Order: sequence, then C-alpha cells, then structure tokens
Amino acid sequence: MRIQVLTLFPDMLTPVIGDSILGRAREKGLLDIETFDIRSFAANKHKKTDDYPFGGGAGMVLTPQPVFDALDSLGTDGKRLVYMSPRGRLLNQELVTELAHEETLLLLCGHYEGLDQRVTDHFGFEEISVGDYILTGGEIPAMVLIDAVTRVLPEALGNPRAHDEESICSGLLEYPQYTRPGAFRGMDAPEVLLSGDHKRIRLWKFEESLKLTMDRRPDLFDRFLERRDSLDKDEKRILERLLAE
Ligand SMILES: C[S@@+](CC[C@H](N)C(=O)[O-])C[C@H]1O[C@@H](n2cnc3c(N)ncnc32)[C@H](O)[C@@H]1O
Repeated sequence: MRIQVLTLFPDMLTPVIGDSILGRAREKGLLDIETFDIRSFAANKHKKTDDYPFGGGAGMVLTPQPVFDALDSLGTDGKRLVYMSPRGRLLNQELVTELAHEETLLLLCGHYEGLDQRVTDHFGFEEISVGDYILTGGEIPAMVLIDAVTRVLPEALGNPRAHDEESICSGLLEYPQYTRPGAFRGMDAPEVLLSGDHKRIRLWKFEESLKLTMDRRPDLFDRFLERRDSLDKDEKRILERLLAE
C-alpha cells in the first residue's frame, strides 16, 4: 500500500512513520509512505501559503495555488483522496479497514483556519475527521489514520489474532489485561487467568468485555445485541444473566 501526505509540516511525520510497527511495515515493504511539502509548491517569492478569508472571519486560509500545483504534480488518478477535516466523516474501525484496501491514499493536511474550498471541490476530496474536537493542523489526524490503517494490513502485526481481539474490532471493548507477577503489592491477578482452563478463560474474557461495553459504550452494546444469535450457548447464558442483573 502507498500513502502520500501533503502537508506544510512534513517533519512532524518523520519520527512517527519511522518507528515501531509503522517503521517495520515500511522495512518489510508492506507500506510506502511519502510526504510532500505544500510550501515548496508556492509560486510567490516569500513562499507564502495563507491569506485572509473572503467575507471576513477569524484566522487565515490555505491558498489554492500551492495545493493545486502539488496535486497536479503528484497526480490524483486512481488515488483515494482524503482531506483531514473536523467537518468530515468520523474515522472508525470500519472505515480504517475500508481504507486499508486502497492501493494509494493521498492525505491532505489543512492548517490555519482551513483550506480554500475550491481544492476539495475540484479534485473531489472526501473529508475524514478523527473526532469532535479541533486540532491545529491535519498532521496528527493523518498520523492517527496511517497508524490505524497500518495495524490492519496483513502481516503488519507480528500476531494477526491480536487485531481481532482488540477493543471495537470484536464489537466489544477489550477485557482487562494482566501480566507477571501474579501477585503485586497485595493485588492478585484474577485466578481464572492462571488456571490453564481455556474455556473458563475465554468466558471470563467475554463476560468482562460485555460488562465494560454495557457500562461505557451503550451504543456499541446495542449493536452487539443485534448479532446475539451468533453466540454459543455459554455466551448466551452469560449475556442473559447480565441483562437480567
Ligand atoms: C484549526 S483546524 C481548522 C478548523 C476549521 N476552521 C473548522 O472549523 O472546521 C486546521 C486544520 O486542522 C485539521 N483538523 C483539525 N481538527 C481535525 C479533526 N478533528 N480531524 C481531522 N482534521 C482536523 C484540518 O486539516 C484543518 O484544516
């Protein structure tokens, strides 16, 4: 998969795309990430990329010329064009999985108060938001998207099952995790996890996931209930008991 990022601050991405799972995915050739500096396409002498908004209003707006020239130079055919924007569709695991199937993603990071609308209109960008809050630029949202997409690329994670058991991916929030030592400062890890009884462990994890999801994310829990028919009889029994409580 190939990801191109158009930004005023390419250096912000450098440490993130070079480290950990992203860095390894690039080394393995699963992922090719390129950053492009919008400012380098500015045609004016001072490389200025912002101007006052028509009609007034706070802040400055990214001017169309450098972005148009950058996109003309990179080419947009066959690429999924995404403008990181708080006005966009909210990024969730379903959308992440969809994006991971693309051959090339081109991510455009806004700055200042935003971007001249003619850019997104002309090239047909879709807008994606990472949450209902405003950040100073699209670089952190782009990194969030890249990180999430990379995790679902086949072979990017050492253990592919790790992804299926994750919060949200299974439709439920993840159960609590424990590791060595079994007893720490007077607190014991749950006995069941050390029992070696695989069925009890699986059902304990399921019950803890259910409890957390009911408590913290009733929206996810309601969606989970819609597919309760796919549960086995032990899981159904646990679900019925929790619902009755
Ligand atoms: C200060 S924001 C501009 C916000 C814009 N004035 C608005 O109200 O929609 C500057 C840039 O940060 C990026 N950005 C900020 N918050 C974001 C979010 N929640 N998701 C994705 N991108 C975001 C966008 O690229 C945006 O152009």
